[in-house]
Amino acid sequence: QELKLNIEQIEKGGYDHFMLKEIYEQPSVIKDTYRGRLLADKGIIKLGGLEEYIPKFINADRIIIVACGTSWHAGLVAEYIFEDLARIPVEVEYASEFRYRNPIITENDVVIAISQSGETADTLAAIKLAKEKGAFVYGICNVVGSTISRETHSGTYTHAGPEIGVASTKAFTTQITVLTMIALKLAQVKGTISKSDYMMHLRELDMIPTHVAAALKSNDKIEEIAAVFKNATNFLYLGRGYNFPVALEGALKLKEISYIHAEGYPAAEMKHGPIALIDEHMPVVVIAINSNHYGKVVSNIEEIKARKGKIIAVVTEGDTVVRELADYVMEVPKTPESLTPLVTTIPLQLLSYHIAVMLNKNVDQPRNLAKSVTVE
Ligand code: AGP
Repeated sequence: QELKLNIEQIEKGGYDHFMLKEIYEQPSVIKDTYRGRLLADKGIIKLGGLEEYIPKFINADRIIIVACGTSWHAGLVAEYIFEDLARIPVEVEYASEFRYRNPIITENDVVIAISQSGETADTLAAIKLAKEKGAFVYGICNVVGSTISRETHSGTYTHAGPEIGVASTKAFTTQITVLTMIALKLAQVKGTISKSDYMMHLRELDMIPTHVAAALKSNDKIEEIAAVFKNATNFLYLGRGYNFPVALEGALKLKEISYIHAEGYPAAEMKHGPIALIDEHMPVVVIAINSNHYGKVVSNIEEIKARKGKIIAVVTEGDTVVRELADYVMEVPKTPESLTPLVTTIPLQLLSYHIAVMLNKNVDQPRNLAKSVTVE
């Protein structure tokens, strides 16, 4: 028993929990994910599993992404980046809905299945269905040799290393890293991105590990914010565009490990319902980074403030406007909007982690949840 405890201690690498270790591993595992695949100075992206299938992707009628949970959120981020950069229509489906919906799939569709474990039953069933209908299926998995990696026609591993915490963290950011590389490669071959924009994206993607490391430096401040809100019974998470899926992911992280009810919404949807919930007891986490939507998100923040909601904002370093309005801010470095989910996710992971620790919850193995959901 004692030996087992010691081994676990060693495996946690000095961190109190696997989840915290995995959050802190992100700068290095994101780099592992693009190492040898992204050569920013030379303008090269080379993904072994993708090369020979590039024509399939480019000529596809659409890309359908199937996944569950956090992996589904990575798929939603991909929808923005694929459509924005590569101009390929994308649909993102919960694998569990897709498999039972009698979906229309043709040989001209490309299906991307995203799964950390590579064993999720619903995702696997969605893959089988897509294959039966003649679609080309590409897998993005973390676990090497997993069932999904074997059942797909080709794919890319994320190389995040083992993820032990049930709440997915580094799997999410490495999935987005792979999806971003695929989108950039397709955009380049298809000619939907200018040379300078392409080169800029590669250089900026190469900077992401440094930016994630900088975002992690706010940990102590985030811990203080967690202490203020740990007894709240509800949270709202709002984001727009690329950061709408990040809002969903932030809410999921909080629900999973702290058992606090949280909902993620596109910020503009607030006025269609959730605004009714806002009063002085409602913390609202708003992703308010410098982006195309900045002005609109600032208006949303003003609306929350007018109703006395408590605002915790994720802002770009150096922001002054939101800082004035929000009760608390968590800063992230500036990066192009298409890459922002890779950095805005970090403070939300830390916020949920600290709240769960303060509430004495079992962070790494939350109740009722399994790391890999192999039953439907
Ligand atoms: C994430 O924090 C969850 N534990 C869960 O939603 C997970 O992402 C989902 O079950 C999908 O798992 P997979 O990536 O291994 O397929």
